[in-house]
Amino acid sequence: MKKMYITTPIYYVNDEPHIGHAYTTILADVINRYYKSIGYKTFFLTGTDEHGLKVQQAAVKNNVTPQQHVDKHVIAFKNIWKKLNIDHDFFIRTTDANHQNKVKFALQTLFDKGEIYLDEYEGLYSISEERFITQKEADEGDFREIKKIKEKNYFFKMSKYQDKLIQHIKENPNFIKPESRKNEILGFLDKPLNDLCISRPKDRLEWGIEIPFDTNYVTYVWFDALLNYISSIGWSENKNFESWWPADYHLIGKDILTTHAVYWPTMLMALNVPLPKTILAHGWWIMEDQKMSKSLGNVIKPLDLAEEFSVDSLRYFLMRNMVLGQDSSFSRASFIKRYNSDLANDYGNVINRITILIKKNFDGLCPEPGKYDKTELELIKLCDDIVNKVEKNMVKLKIHDALEAIFSLIREINKYLELKQPWKTIKVDKSQKGDAATCLYVSVELLRISSELLFPFMPEKTRITINALSQEISHNLEFGIIKPYCSIEHPGALFPRIEND
Ligand code: MSP
Repeated sequence: MKKMYITTPIYYVNDEPHIGHAYTTILADVINRYYKSIGYKTFFLTGTDEHGLKVQQAAVKNNVTPQQHVDKHVIAFKNIWKKLNIDHDFFIRTTDANHQNKVKFALQTLFDKGEIYLDEYEGLYSISEERFITQKEADEGDFREIKKIKEKNYFFKMSKYQDKLIQHIKENPNFIKPESRKNEILGFLDKPLNDLCISRPKDRLEWGIEIPFDTNYVTYVWFDALLNYISSIGWSENKNFESWWPADYHLIGKDILTTHAVYWPTMLMALNVPLPKTILAHGWWIMEDQKMSKSLGNVIKPLDLAEEFSVDSLRYFLMRNMVLGQDSSFSRASFIKRYNSDLANDYGNVINRITILIKKNFDGLCPEPGKYDKTELELIKLCDDIVNKVEKNMVKLKIHDALEAIFSLIREINKYLELKQPWKTIKVDKSQKGDAATCLYVSVELLRISSELLFPFMPEKTRITINALSQEISHNLEFGIIKPYCSIEHPGALFPRIEND
């Protein structure tokens, strides 16, 4: 059986979950559900990044221990993923004992191999980003709370892997996606790569994983956090690891590309672990030309929208309105526009029309079709073509194109109903196998297939729709599955139009 291992970044536990976090996690969930639907064995990992200065400071401020602080905050992430129907297989916390042991094991292994050394370093340190930065980075102004720091620290010999990494990126065109991000990293690697400072003295930061060979230090948060991708699946201890690793997709936002495409692969090279297959960096959700972030105070809370307009419509909007890799702007108006045009007018309307007509005219039982005419045969063929197109787009992760293809099918059903006008022909001929019966059977089947295709995106509403047709989610995309005379119910208004907002 083919496998799919997909990960999201592990989110800073201190932050309140927002649309940006929800986007990456929903995207991973959609891809994971899709691969499951086509028969893959899948593993979907998400979690929280729980060490570092910001957590330590917040705990002090709230008069609790850092552990108490993270235990309280992790609940918000766990709850939101549950509400948004995120079907992850494991939720990693970097404070888990297993993860901490694996980080220590990795450090000790690298130290024993001579890949880590102690050195004195003087440089600019960004407290907000928790890393040393270059003068150029400081001048560019993207970093806050910059201090000059001189101290002894442990360094990982990252520079040693520069040429090997460049070669790997060039030889594996899918390693960093999209292409523009790959070029960005190759540009970054044009300049000499520094070694990576992987420790923090305890007198400056206590809340971290202790360095196993020097108890005066804790591990740098990124070195700790990146290892979650292998510590979660049994690295260094059992065979399960090989059945999942290498990861098929590390989904990340473009803001954390360097850590994933430079630090992480060089760490893996030094540990003798194969590299992930694809690091996929998506763009940002922008609010009025600015990245959405807590510090800018322009955060949209995903749950507010989900509660107001349904979880599925939020999932749909986020997947439909962002071209993977590019930035996309978010506004309440764009959400409502998309909702009304695609969900209320197209999908919702087709569900209502078909189920109400069958309820009224065929006693709520699926009609039996007669012989298909040219229009119907062409429509069934078109459905098949669209199913293939969706599959092609999904495996290329052209998510918005896959959705556009599914909605082209839904619009075809509406057009077909307009053409055949079963609400008129039914007045003349209500018989089984008659024109209206045939039209409604074809429409019901196409509605079932469209709903199956939409299932990874909108698991709740599509299940309700498919159940209303007396079916279970089966992932069967062939035409002609529903047996005539089964019960067809009207599932109620699943996507009521949003008026006068
Ligand atoms: N803890 C690190 C990741 C460690 S992974 C080994 C981190 N966490 S974070 O909480 O800041 O989350 C970062 C991720 O959230 C981004 O990479 C991106 O996936 C998502 N987003 C945060 N803000 C975003 C937007 N405004 N738009 C889209 N996604 C963004 O970095």
